[in-house]
Amino acid sequence: DTKRILALFPAEDLPEGEIRAETLPNGDVIAVYNVDGNFFATQDQCSHGEASLSEEGELCGKFVECSWHFGTFDVTTGEPGLMPCEIPLKTYAVFVADGKVSIEY
Ligand code: FES
Repeated sequence: DTKRILALFPAEDLPEGEIRAETLPNGDVIAVYNVDGNFFATQDQCSHGEASLSEEGELCGKFVECSWHFGTFDVTTGEPGLMPCEIPLKTYAVFVADGKVSIEY
């Protein structure tokens, strides 16, 4: 299937250590993270429950902690960290082009 590119927002709009949600044209809701100046994206919904990681999550380095049950994920790979999170998050390729955080989906 064909990959599409979408410019999301100016890179300066998401400071280091912060998370924001975006909805892609295909309906996927994603969380975009700024980890020490590098951008990453995962599915927004925690794979353990219904929590929104952009709203309920706390970014500590490259790990997002879900405040519902305090499980964690590595946002750079989607891999689960601390329990009770066990199912990897879907990840998306993110890059900065013309000063805008952009995504391949
Ligand atoms: Fe996220 Fe349980 S819903 S850790």
